[in-house]
Amino acid sequence: MVAIEIVLGDITHEQVDAIVTAANESLLGGGGVDGAIHRAAGPRLAQAGGAIGPCEPGDAMATPAFDLNPSVTHIIHTVGPVWEGGDYDEAEILQSCYRRCLEVADELGALSLALPAIATGTYGFPADQAAGIAIATIRSTPTSVRHIRMVAFDEPTYTALTNALNQAESSETRPS
Ligand code: APR
Repeated sequence: MVAIEIVLGDITHEQVDAIVTAANESLLGGGGVDGAIHRAAGPRLAQAGGAIGPCEPGDAMATPAFDLNPSVTHIIHTVGPVWEGGDYDEAEILQSCYRRCLEVADELGALSLALPAIATGTYGFPADQAAGIAIATIRSTPTSVRHIRMVAFDEPTYTALTNALNQAESSETRPS
């Protein structure tokens, strides 16, 4: 099973093979984590994103990482669901984001991957529910990635992800 670590910090500082950005369908960049990654990677990222986009919600596509930092070779762009109350397949689309990011990471041969809390900012997905989906999907998707770092940008997100991971791990070890 892939090792999952929850960390608090800025994903642009991560020293991993690939990092995931929570993009919009254009892949031309935006605000939030996408804005931070595009600022760090430089203008070539938007050019590369524009060349392969648009990206459907729930899908994921890779580009080089350009100027991000020397250890990161690829950026995996995924588009989360906009939260509209929970009755419009938002959970399934978010699940698909995490699954597709792992599939693309496998295609890239990435052994370490950093991901933000997709869709929990501008797109409004409730953090606790999103954290549960993230952890459950990552733990149930076969992958050749060895180390996953979920990077929270603030304390509430860090707590939500940590709780979700602890619950998943304790339910696995609890005697049936
Ligand atoms: N490192 C790690 N996480 C970050 C960073 C960062 N530098 N900056 C923001 N985040 C966190 C947010 O705090 C939130 O928990 O990333 C999570 C996702 O929030 P958003 O970046 O707003 O992404 P999302 O909710 O998926 O909305 C995507 O917003 O910025 C636009 O172009 C983007 O249209 C797209 C939409």
